[in-house]
This record gives sequence, C-alpha cells and structure tokens, in this order.
Amino acid sequence: MFGRRNDTQSAPRKVAAEPAAAPAAATAKAEPSAPAPAPKPVSVRAAIPPAPPKPKVSDQRSENYYQIKTTIFNALIDTIDLTQLAQLDGESAREEIRDIVNEILSIKNVVMSISEQEALLQDICNDVLGYGPLEPLLARDDISDIMVNGADRTFIEVGGKVELTGVRFRDNSQLMNICQRIVSQVGRRVDEASPICDARLPDGSRVNVIVPPLAIDGPALTIRKFRRDKLTMKNLVEWNSISAEGAEVLGIIGKVRCNTLISGGTGSGKTTLLNCLTAFIDTDERVITCEDAAELQLQQPHVVRLETRPPNLEGQGQITMTELVRNCLRMRPERIIVGEVRGPEAFDLLQAMNTGHDGSMGTLHANSPREALSRLEGMITMGGYNLPSKTIREMICGSIDVIIQAARLRDGSRRITHITEVLGTEGDVIITQDLFVYDIEGEDETGRLIGKHKATGIARPAFWDRARYYNQHHALAAALDRAQG
Ligand SMILES: Nc1ncnc2c1ncn2[C@@H]1O[C@H](COP(=O)(O)OP(=O)(O)OP(=O)(O)O)[C@@H](O)[C@H]1O
Ligand SMILES: [Mg+2]
Repeated sequence: MFGRRNDTQSAPRKVAAEPAAAPAAATAKAEPSAPAPAPKPVSVRAAIPPAPPKPKVSDQRSENYYQIKTTIFNALIDTIDLTQLAQLDGESAREEIRDIVNEILSIKNVVMSISEQEALLQDICNDVLGYGPLEPLLARDDISDIMVNGADRTFIEVGGKVELTGVRFRDNSQLMNICQRIVSQVGRRVDEASPICDARLPDGSRVNVIVPPLAIDGPALTIRKFRRDKLTMKNLVEWNSISAEGAEVLGIIGKVRCNTLISGGTGSGKTTLLNCLTAFIDTDERVITCEDAAELQLQQPHVVRLETRPPNLEGQGQITMTELVRNCLRMRPERIIVGEVRGPEAFDLLQAMNTGHDGSMGTLHANSPREALSRLEGMITMGGYNLPSKTIREMICGSIDVIIQAARLRDGSRRITHITEVLGTEGDVIITQDLFVYDIEGEDETGRLIGKHKATGIARPAFWDRARYYNQHHALAAALDRAQG
C-alpha cells in the first residue's frame, strides 16, 4: 500500500496553508528580485563596527614557557633518531623522550617547577608522537568543535558556546605538519598544489583543512569531534531539544517510513538528529547510507555504508554523491539515507523516495522548512534538469513527507524548531502544515532562552493512514493529544 508514491492521499486532513507559507512558496516559485533597500545615509557612528565580544580564553601559558619549549624541542630533534623512535611502542617512546628531555633540561640549566616540567614533557611527547597541541583538546569529551585559525588562535565549542583556548602552535609550519599528519592517514596530501582537504581522524572525527595560499593567515583546521556516547532521542528530550511528545511523534515518523528531510544551519544538530531517527528503523530493513565523510552510526545489522571520493591529485577518480545514490538503487535498498544533500543528487534521492524506498532520509542546509523546499528545488534546477518548476514542486511533494527543522539558537542551545508536513501543491504553491513548533517566550537572567515546544493542534497528520498501516495510529493520536493537553 505504501510501497508506491503519488497515490492521492485519502486521509481526511486539515489542509492549513500556514500564513507564512504562501509568500515563502511564492518566493520559491519565481524568486522575485526584492527591491533593493534605499541606501542609508552613512553616519560615522554607523560605520564603526561594534567591538566583538572578548572571547573567553582558557588555559593560557606564558610566553616564556613557549620559548623554553621551542629550545628544548629543537635540541631534542637534533638528538633523537626519529625513525628509531617510530619503531618503539607509545609507552617506550614516551620514556625515551622523557629521559632525553630531562637531560637537556639539566644541561641547559633550565629552572622549572615539577608541574611545569610534566606539562612540558607532555606537550613535547604530543608534538613528536601525536597531534601536538591538539592532543589535550582531542582528549576532551565535552568539546564538539575545534577550530584552528593559524598557529596562534584555536577556538573550541563547549556546551554550545565558542571560546578561545590558550592552545598555540610553535609556528605555521608545525601546524602544517600536523595537518599533513592527519590527512596522510586517509592517504591524502595537503599543500599549495592541493590546498583543501577533507579527512577523518582514527576516532571518526570529521576534519577539514585549508592551507595557504587559500587560507591567508596560515592553515585553518576544523574538526567536528566525534562523540563516543552517541546522542539518542532520550538525550534530546532531557536537554529540551524536543518535548517528550514531539520525540514520540518523531519516533513514529521514523517507524512508519515517512520520507524525511532534516533541515538546519551549520552545526545545528542535523546529523545527530538523523542518527537518532535511524534508531527507529526496523532491524530487518536493508539500509544504505551515502555520506561525504561517514559520520552516521546506525545500529541495525543490515546496513551498507558508502562514502564519496574526492578527485586525486591528477583530478581523476572522483565519485560524487549522485553516482553513489544512483548506484544505491541497484543494491536493493529498502531505505536510502543521504548524510547531506547539497547538489544534483537531490533529484536522485527524490526519485528513490518516489519509487518504493519509503522511509528514506537526508539532511540539508536551510533555515526553515520552507527554505528547505526552495533549496531542494534550486538544487534540482542547478543540476541541469530541464523541468518546469511546477513539475519539480509536484515531485518534491510526492516524495517528501516530513521536514524536521533543527536550529542552534543564539544562547548556544540546539532545538528542533519545526516538525512540518509537506501536503501537496495548490497551483504553483507547496502547501505545508506544522505539527510542532518551538516558541521562544523570553530569556532568563543568565541569557538562556526560555521556550516551549507546542503542538499546533493538528489531530490527524497527513501521514495518519500510513501510521494506521503500521499500527502506530493509536500511539500517534495519544502523543498528539498529550502535546495539546
Ligand atoms: N540537541 C543537541 N543538544 C546538544 N548538543 C547537540 C545537539 N545536537 C547536536 N549536538 C552537538 O552539536 C554538534 C554538531 O552536531 P551535528 O554534527 O549533528 O550538526 P550538523 O548540523 O550535522 O553540522 P554540519 O552542518 O557541520 O554537518 C555535535 O558535537 C553534537 O554532538
Ligand atoms: Mg552534519
């Protein structure tokens, strides 16, 4: 019954074109060029940009410490044979380095406290054997992103807030070496000839490196830390990212094989949410995932994970997301999961959703469900498919059932702000209906936003028949009832 799409949905439903829908959809249709705002008279006051808030600096070390470290490090490199050191196991190599560093310290008459010496030793071991100054950050579980902007500035994101750390590299060439070490593990190089590179750390963290001449102030390294303890829907409820009832509805959406798009800005929690949703996939379903850098961690036994491949140095051998998704279709998938839809593969994913691969999912960069729809349309148009926009919109409506919007709010918290259904088209306009929205009500004295997830009062979502088919309609009605109570 639900193996095929395009059948007119017979379930009685409240087709409420939300007030915001029509104008936004109209934008999607023709993107009328907004009249340019009249140029404002430039006042001197307005020209002065506001001073950026001073970032919080953690773990600041003295200039003196870095000077001593450079001296000792250089002396150590002159003394040891790195190829022999590489043959030792981690513990013996550390012992070896410890002995030599202690010797150098006494020869050079360096006065340091025991704790400073320990810190120095640790730093030097990290430089020689690991990822240098990044090691202490990589070891921390509470950090979600590490952003290195050249040798002198490293930022981290902790608890939704970005802060400056005291971590510094000796110079840009040390940073460059570490970047090289990271990307060489996935068989790639980064240098002037190929200055952009994506890689993965052995623990699964996602890495992007961009180096001079493209990065003007030295190599820029961005790491999305891999969470060992994967977030679950239960965590999201505990942290108020979604209400308990909203989470139940999301679970049902996952179980009853709605085709779902997760939309959100950078770092808003899209991949995390996708991972949480996949937990509701039955263990006997064959799932194929396509990602640029494998981040998803499905727990089901019958999963095939695919990853795109960038071109090699000669510009050959690239395998794009479109090729992966197309190949997927020949692998007898029941569900296809695309880590991030960003290009022409959107067309292939929609086709797959439309032709018996119900319950397929993907994420997409957009700031609202309506923007997600127009971005999807844009991707298909840009992909060179010469289709009238009405046809594209009908295709989108025939394929996507639900859009879940994730957002990182200004206080750093991550929330699911919309659970929205795609109902169909009316003329040229896509009609959507919100099931849940997050309503911001104010702010407490610490600056944290106060808000609530609210059900919009839709008693019978458009996927009601689907829920009944999978015997989930009672649970769905109960969750929606509770959400309104
Ligand atoms: N609801 C949440 N509450 C707190 N932290 C979260 C939540 N969701 C995700 N995170 C954390 O936020 C970080 C970014 O999450 P995630 O990788 O899912 O975002 P994304 O939108 O996929 O990012 P990108 O656009 O870079 O792909 C991760 O460290 C993740 O653990
Ligand atoms: Mg992501």
